Amino acid sequence: MKTIIEPFRIKSVEPLRMIGPAQRGRILERAGYNPFRIPSSDVLIDLLTDSGTSAMSTAQWAGMMMGDEAYACSRSWDTFKMAVRSIFGFTHILPTHQGRAAERILFSVMCRPGDVVPNNTHFDTTRANIEARGAEAVDLAIAEAKSPAALHPFKGNMDVAALEELIERVGPSRIPLGMITITNNAGGGQPVSLANIRAVHKTLARHGIPFYIDACRFAENSWFIREREEEWAGREPIEIARAIFAEADGCTMSAKKDGLANIGGFLATNDDRLAALEQDLLILTEGFPTYGGLAGRDLEAIAVGLEEALHEDYLEYRIASTRYLGDGLEAAGVPTVRPPGGHAIYVDARAFLDHIPPLRYPGQALVGAMYRHAGIRAVETGQVMFGRPDGETGVEEVVGLDLVRLAIPRRVYTQSHIDYVLEAMTELAAAKREIGGLEIVEQPPALRHFTARFRPAGG
Ligand code: F0G
Repeated sequence: MKTIIEPFRIKSVEPLRMIGPAQRGRILERAGYNPFRIPSSDVLIDLLTDSGTSAMSTAQWAGMMMGDEAYACSRSWDTFKMAVRSIFGFTHILPTHQGRAAERILFSVMCRPGDVVPNNTHFDTTRANIEARGAEAVDLAIAEAKSPAALHPFKGNMDVAALEELIERVGPSRIPLGMITITNNAGGGQPVSLANIRAVHKTLARHGIPFYIDACRFAENSWFIREREEEWAGREPIEIARAIFAEADGCTMSAKKDGLANIGGFLATNDDRLAALEQDLLILTEGFPTYGGLAGRDLEAIAVGLEEALHEDYLEYRIASTRYLGDGLEAAGVPTVRPPGGHAIYVDARAFLDHIPPLRYPGQALVGAMYRHAGIRAVETGQVMFGRPDGETGVEEVVGLDLVRLAIPRRVYTQSHIDYVLEAMTELAAAKREIGGLEIVEQPPALRHFTARFRPAGG
């Protein structure tokens, strides 16, 4: 059957406030045309992120009630540890309050100034934590990843030849670890094949370099492998996930994505010496090693969530629903990063609003128009996020792409919400010449996308 049916029913509902475009226009103006400044109660469909925004299942809520809040060696820790180990398999597991805390601990222990860390594409917190250690984060995604329209079944893959070349150039002693991010969030939520994961592992291992996986969206990546990699056709997602992590020496994880939880994460490793050093840091800033930065009830919710994220019915629906949005946008004349990724669709705003020059922020302009027209909140990942005015001249260089990410929270919106988004975008496409560019009124020196204020250009 053609209908994409949610493999769950709704037991508890959260009402949405219906307000009109005129009121939203005023809210947008007050927010300085920045979606991060819009109160969530004024948002109808919130596609800002898929992180920490999942709806929990009855089993997860039941788990929350079972949470053992003992400071040390709680029952919930055992439940969590067993759930993580059964999928990821690593010897040492360190619970953290979210993904970036795992990153900070990992790089604090492994990286020194002058080191180089390759990845397919570093997520911004990963890059920032590496750079905070004085090391360099290098992106080595395959060439297709840079072109929104290029089709590739595993557009998140790492360029293995480029990895070889990097190791040759800087020498293995300056590369404390290599990473791969599944799925590749910054590259459009694109999957990585198991063949690529194996090739990267082999290359790194040949030079004695440890291999870590940024596992945030491991379940979605496992589903893509099942769908697109012949060797794994029809296999259970958990089998595929186990095969992925069997290649690695450790991983960082944000349970706010494929842990189907609202908070949490962990760091895992097979290295006893590193684990001891990491544990010391964990105690210093996160908490005792059997809870990290989490409550016992969070550990329970994550243990159930990790398992549910690998259910076939759920993954089939999840990936089909994202694909439906991506294909629908293309059919409506809205160019997107192809093929559709796992957790989000990225609109090519520079191509869509080609009457707005890059330094008039077409992505930010589109985000504003989506909110005003239909109450949809999305995020610009382009000139505003990655551009920066020159310290002396104040002039910005134009960055590679102006994308707008429509990230889909897990199990939160129904197909009718997705149809509403498609209808709204179709209407915007018909009237896109009316969308004007923006200029910046004020901006902080770093991470400006969170707080910058804008106004209509020339207005
Ligand atoms: N790695 C990847 C690939 C991510 O997408 C994120 C978070 C992190 C690490 C950090 O995890 O937020 O738990 O500290 N991504 C969110 C997003 C914020 O909106 O894509 P965290």
